[in-house]
Amino acid sequence: MTAFMAAAPPGDRILPRIIQGGMGVAISDWSLANAVARRGGLGVVSGTILEVVMARRLQLGDPGGHVRRALDHFPFRTAAQRIVDTYYEPAGGNGDPRQLKNVRTFTIDPDLQLQELTVAANFVEVFLAKEGHDGPVGINYLRKIELPIPFSIYGAMLAGVDYVIVGAGNPKEMPRLITDLANHEEVRLPLRVQGLKSQDDDVEIRFDPADVHGGTPPPISRPAFLAIVASTDLAVALAAMADPPDGFVIEEPSAGGHNAPPRGPRRTDELGQPVYDERDEVNLAEFRRLGLPFWLAGSYGTPSGLSRALQEGAAGVLVGTAFAFCEESGLVADLKRAIAQQVLDGTVEVRSDWRASPTGFPFRIVQLDGTLSENTVYEDRRRVCDLGALRTPYKTESGSIGYRCPAEPLRAYSEIKGGRAANTDGRLCLCNGLLATAGLAQYRARAGYEEPALVTAGSDFGGVRELMQRVGSGDSLYSAADVIDYLSAGC
Ligand SMILES: Cc1cc2nc3c(=O)[nH]c(=O)nc-3n(C[C@H](O)[C@H](O)[C@H](O)COP(=O)(O)O)c2cc1C
Repeated sequence: MTAFMAAAPPGDRILPRIIQGGMGVAISDWSLANAVARRGGLGVVSGTILEVVMARRLQLGDPGGHVRRALDHFPFRTAAQRIVDTYYEPAGGNGDPRQLKNVRTFTIDPDLQLQELTVAANFVEVFLAKEGHDGPVGINYLRKIELPIPFSIYGAMLAGVDYVIVGAGNPKEMPRLITDLANHEEVRLPLRVQGLKSQDDDVEIRFDPADVHGGTPPPISRPAFLAIVASTDLAVALAAMADPPDGFVIEEPSAGGHNAPPRGPRRTDELGQPVYDERDEVNLAEFRRLGLPFWLAGSYGTPSGLSRALQEGAAGVLVGTAFAFCEESGLVADLKRAIAQQVLDGTVEVRSDWRASPTGFPFRIVQLDGTLSENTVYEDRRRVCDLGALRTPYKTESGSIGYRCPAEPLRAYSEIKGGRAANTDGRLCLCNGLLATAGLAQYRARAGYEEPALVTAGSDFGGVRELMQRVGSGDSLYSAADVIDYLSAGC
């Protein structure tokens, strides 16, 4: 046990004081989570579209050989070989290395190869995050990106993930699903389909681990499950279930990435940003009464944030922004440095945009030239939907299930798929934008440009500023260990 862990259950688990938050896409990658876990925090990898992330890393020559090394340990050998054969391109190989082969988009009925790829990609990320130390590692998923969830969690569990942490939606099915997957049982996850009446609401994502292991799978143990919540009501309902979560992350509205919308009638400021008030405050006394451990997130990334959280009865804090700008994160180095310098100069600006994310949740965007926060960059990008992680299933006129995303081309969304045209206004392709932010941009050969990046962060840069002041300038960055050491002064 390290100084940064508190000795308390669930089970015999030692609770981390500092959780490094899941940050997608591939910002909290295995390298960040590994560095955090080595220093005594809970390192959390992002589980968002890892099947695409891994395929792209392989196509980009698999620098360091990390993906292939992890795949060597993947228990299902034929699948591992097939993945390497399909995607791996040696650096300096044939063709334009910038033009990346896409993986198939998820539907309710993914083919076996996509299932294998997803299981393997989640295995690889957790395997690498856990490699070389015995600290705990978690994985983060968004409930809204539901089609890959069972396959993804199974892969992470095969690599021994210690925590599964799910936000952006109600994760009530997760505890049972995780227990069943630990027993290699078939699982079903109800799928929300627009246009289906509730009595027909029996559409399910089905995953049978036997389809991918095809024999005797290795034993796996059940990770703890933490639900990310922004409201007391949801936590109370989840805690009352027969299979409750093992704890909660309470995320306040200043957190990076997606935020829960304000409660009550829609309220915005002059820039169209959501306005939060006392209705959005969670009742911590109620959380203490629930008796499950909880962590506070959103502007807790300072020593005083940690000590405040501990005084409130929290097991600790979950921190995103301070880790996003450290040396080991997956954010492209030039973007990291440019923003770190803005922080030092006092010019950094983050806007909460209610239109940007196809999910409909407010999404925080750092204002940075050359990225999608700039109007001209947004307008110059040709709409294309080739990754489709945020597509919503809907009932088509013929009764089948279709998939649409309000960030896809207008004609496809509204004329062909019957979506409301107004719903496409201001939407950003988070799939392509966030992959670019992690150095995995698609190159559009015909149009001759690379997909532009899009940086998200929380609105509180207090911790980043203090850490950067110690470093001096945006030319160098602090490390994940520096963040842990800095925060732990608040224990
Ligand atoms: C770059 C970035 C990406 C994020 N992506 C995700 C995500 O994919 N899933 C998630 O649950 N939270 C995401 N978050 C939120 C963090 O996990 C965390 O809750 C939040 O950043 C905490 O607030 P803080 O930034 O003030 O420390 C992201 C945050 C950042 C800064």
